Amino acid sequence: MASFTPSFTFFSSIFLLLFSTCTSTSPLASQLFKEAPKFYNSHTCATINSHHANDTCSAEAVHVAMTLDVAYLRGSMAAILSVLQHSSCPENIIFHFVSAASKPSSATILNKTLITSFPYLKFKIYPFDDGAVAGLISTSIRSALDCPLNYARSYLANLLPSCVTKIVYLDSDLVLVDDIAKLAATPLGSDDIVLAAPEYCTANFSAYFTPSFWSNPSLSATFAGRRPCYFNTGVMVIDLARWRARDYTMRIQEWMELQKRMRIYELGSLPPFLLVFAGRIAPVDHRWNQHGLGGDNFRGLCRDLHPGPVSLLHWSGKGKPWARLDANRPCPLDALWAPYDLLQTPFALGAYLTS
Ligand SMILES: *[C@@H]1O[C@H](CO)[C@@H](O)[C@H](O)[C@H]1NC(C)=O
Ligand SMILES: *[C@@H]1O[C@H](CO)[C@@H](O)[C@H](O)[C@H]1NC(C)=O
Ligand SMILES: *[C@@H]1O[C@H](CO)[C@@H](O)[C@H](O)[C@H]1NC(C)=O
Repeated sequence: MASFTPSFTFFSSIFLLLFSTCTSTSPLASQLFKEAPKFYNSHTCATINSHHANDTCSAEAVHVAMTLDVAYLRGSMAAILSVLQHSSCPENIIFHFVSAASKPSSATILNKTLITSFPYLKFKIYPFDDGAVAGLISTSIRSALDCPLNYARSYLANLLPSCVTKIVYLDSDLVLVDDIAKLAATPLGSDDIVLAAPEYCTANFSAYFTPSFWSNPSLSATFAGRRPCYFNTGVMVIDLARWRARDYTMRIQEWMELQKRMRIYELGSLPPFLLVFAGRIAPVDHRWNQHGLGGDNFRGLCRDLHPGPVSLLHWSGKGKPWARLDANRPCPLDALWAPYDLLQTPFALGAYLTS
């Protein structure tokens, strides 16, 4: 299990999309989270304008965007903790959370949960019009698994205030074990590059699109003059200023509209990103997205790390570490997620209350 074939990369990414569901099976009221410790800046950190009431716009800050929903809240909480814990300047990190506008009551609960567990966190919650996007998502046999919130990453440029010009987007099923400032500092290079992410050029790129896409010259010509490679949209550095200037949200949306009329790809939110950006992104070292740890769906196999160093562990795929730990059937690498779990178990809660 030491190395992975290209097909693994391909399949694991498919699973990421297939199983990013909207279903909120976990009853929120029963999810209680512990308070995280406060993390302090080291002395070498730049001071963001903390004397100022409004530091949403600080250019010295590292801006992080994540979606927030009830189903993946336990994952999000662990991800936030991991970001803070491995940062040299944790007080300079500002989180931008996107939650479904169709569930305003859950935004209130999510807000309260965040404040309770991370009383010092600098964050903002943005309502995302998931209803409008739902109308753009093509109906497919997997429509129940096609969660509108998955598409929020395409709308960050519109959702966040225009003063935020660079963002690190993160999925909820990952933990960092390195300083996010290093990832955020990825050079995007020339002016036409908008996005940075680890690229996987050995994955079978054609498989993401249908034969009717490839057989239509005017469609397949979209990749003319570039060498498109698969990248995972769960970890991205995005220049929001450049994104806004060229309105990439509209370009992504145009592909989604086409997909509604004719089937050009099989999966949800990934292919429009590939259509617009593949072959035009800045590379990021693979250590920043050790993906696929959610495992193999067909046989339920656990996955090992890809060769090389690790800065970010990503449980993309069907299995989530919290679910496997709860079921007492963890994969070996789930032990690396467990230390970031902030869930207050009934047992631990009882012990706390009676101590
Ligand atoms: C902070 O500044 C941004 C951008 O100027 C603005 O959109 C936001 O409303 C401000 N927030 C507060 C609390 O003043
Ligand atoms: C979150 O709670 C804070 C403090 O109670 C409040 O000021 C803010 O408006 C809330 N935000 C949302 C999205 O509910
Ligand atoms: C890549 O995927 C396409 C479409 O699924 C398939 O026809 C082709 O044989 C695959 N190529 C390789 C090298 O696996």
